[in-house]
Amino acid sequence: MTRTKITTAVLREMKAHHERITTLTAYDHNFAQLLDEAGIDIVLVGDSVGTVMQGRAATVSVTMDQMVYHTELVSRACKRALVVGDMPFLSYQVSIEDAMRNAGRLLKEGGAESVKLEGGASMAPTVARLVDAGIPVMGHIGLTPQSIHQFGSYRARGQDEAERLRILDDARSLDQAGAFAMVVEKVPASLGKEITEAVKVPVIGIGAGPDCDGQVLVTHDMLGLFSRFRPRFVRRYAELGRLIQSAVQSYAEDVKQGTFPGPDESY
Ligand code: KIV
Repeated sequence: MTRTKITTAVLREMKAHHERITTLTAYDHNFAQLLDEAGIDIVLVGDSVGTVMQGRAATVSVTMDQMVYHTELVSRACKRALVVGDMPFLSYQVSIEDAMRNAGRLLKEGGAESVKLEGGASMAPTVARLVDAGIPVMGHIGLTPQSIHQFGSYRARGQDEAERLRILDDARSLDQAGAFAMVVEKVPASLGKEITEAVKVPVIGIGAGPDCDGQVLVTHDMLGLFSRFRPRFVRRYAELGRLIQSAVQSYAEDVKQGTFPGPDESY
């Protein structure tokens, strides 16, 4: 594993050299350290914290203060990975001034090195202003979970021609506005490939097929720590939820039977 600190410039070089980019989410110091030491390139402090950590049905209720808190925990742990702080719902859509202030909080108070926001062409002026102020921005197009109440479902996007063209235009707009990378979520693999070839910056896919410049998953999904829903694009690399339950049951049995603590665990 290379120990080169990952920066937005390194990510551009990785795209140029067809070196795939790994991304996972983290919300606390412990997990962030594990991901960083395992060599993950980008650690995203996602607003998915709302669903996988707070037990909410959607990400909509996540607040700016919560994102600053989680981002600060993660940033202190990451030595190599690029840390991206997610902008929660309505922290950047109301005005560009709001977006500047809130993105600034993720960098200044949260220690993030960049921010992510959802939206394509309509967000391009905001992205351009943030970039102009020295804040690297990752876009997020295709399925945008913060708009769940607008769309009414988490269905795949870009399946008809009009939506495909709109998403392609979103990608080009973010590229032109100066985003350093973009997440493309839940679109046909053919569209993931088309976008990856159409833009200069790295495309990080989640349910967008194998031809993107990199992939991202929610860590709790891929480790089997979250089971309330499981999109088809999630591959399970471990069943930590079951492992934890089994360890907890063993502990409870030992306590009930009086076999814990034993002599070596007593003073
Ligand atoms: O919030 C999040 O974790 C995300 C990823 C799914 C890309 O936006």
